[in-house]
Amino acid sequence: ADMAAFIAGLPKAEYHVHLEGTLEAEMKFALARRNGLQLPFADVAALKASYRYHDLPSFLAIYYDGMKVLLKEPDFYDLAYAYLAKAASQNVLYAEMFFDPQEHLKRGVAMADVIGGITRARTDAAAKLGIQSQLILCFVRDLSAESAMAALDAALPMKQYLVGVGLDSDEKGNPPSKFAAHFAKARAAGLKVTAHCDLNQENTLEHIRQAIVDIRVDRIDHGGNILQSPELMALAKAKNLYFTVCPTFSGTVQGEAPPVDVVRGMLDAGLNITINSDDPAYMASEYLNEVLVKAQHRSALTKAELVRMERNAFMAGWMDEGLRAACL
Ligand code: HPA
Ligand code: ZN
Repeated sequence: ADMAAFIAGLPKAEYHVHLEGTLEAEMKFALARRNGLQLPFADVAALKASYRYHDLPSFLAIYYDGMKVLLKEPDFYDLAYAYLAKAASQNVLYAEMFFDPQEHLKRGVAMADVIGGITRARTDAAAKLGIQSQLILCFVRDLSAESAMAALDAALPMKQYLVGVGLDSDEKGNPPSKFAAHFAKARAAGLKVTAHCDLNQENTLEHIRQAIVDIRVDRIDHGGNILQSPELMALAKAKNLYFTVCPTFSGTVQGEAPPVDVVRGMLDAGLNITINSDDPAYMASEYLNEVLVKAQHRSALTKAELVRMERNAFMAGWMDEGLRAACL
């Protein structure tokens, strides 16, 4: 209880949260009703009981099905505002949030409604709640390269509302190199670059290598398997790369005997990590405070380590230096 209060009081930053993964079951029903859709579940309890998955693909199937209720600009506003309000209530001062526009374009939603609704929520949350935030467009890596390029091209006229691009979804057979041209175009437009290298995926070390060496990412999402490569760890340290770790979804590096706790392993290896919530609506509604409480216990984090990690987290942000100084 003492530790939970201590964690709740820390000023925090969050860098790995998928907005569509913050769509709580209650809001899903409310948006379905507003949009004249019928969910195939009797109530919130039945819907939540359906959130059962055992790996990345089985999680993603539930996650993509769930976001189909997001259709209009106010839906994206409500989604983003609810996350920002929750984060602000947990003393998160700054957040960089992912979104998956290809999924919404597939349903005929206009990019301007997606980015517009989220941006309006960011503005209101900053004014009313004091939380600062930015937006990262993710390429859905298991869709075609053409689909990702179409989304990027649709978003670039609104690039002032984006801070970066990322790469998420099913990693198997979808290496970072599939999107080399997209990342290059985004960087040329002034955007930052990050990529998921989910834990314990096929060819994970080659994907991490591509992200760092070929794509030259500014950050890595997850990336814990780097512990299996001294060469890549040395490279990440030389480049001062930050890793956005999500221990609720991916807590253990496997493939080594014995398995390694990702937070403890990366901290002890001297890597820069931040702890994040990923998809809280699908992870027992555990937001950053709850994730940190569990991580503290599981990885035996001391108060000094928690303070150091959360202060260091403000160094990972793609924010202007005035805002960084105000957060520190
Ligand atoms: N990994 C890959 N894709 C995702 C995730 C994740 O953790 N969350 C939402 N899409
Ligand atoms: Zn993620």
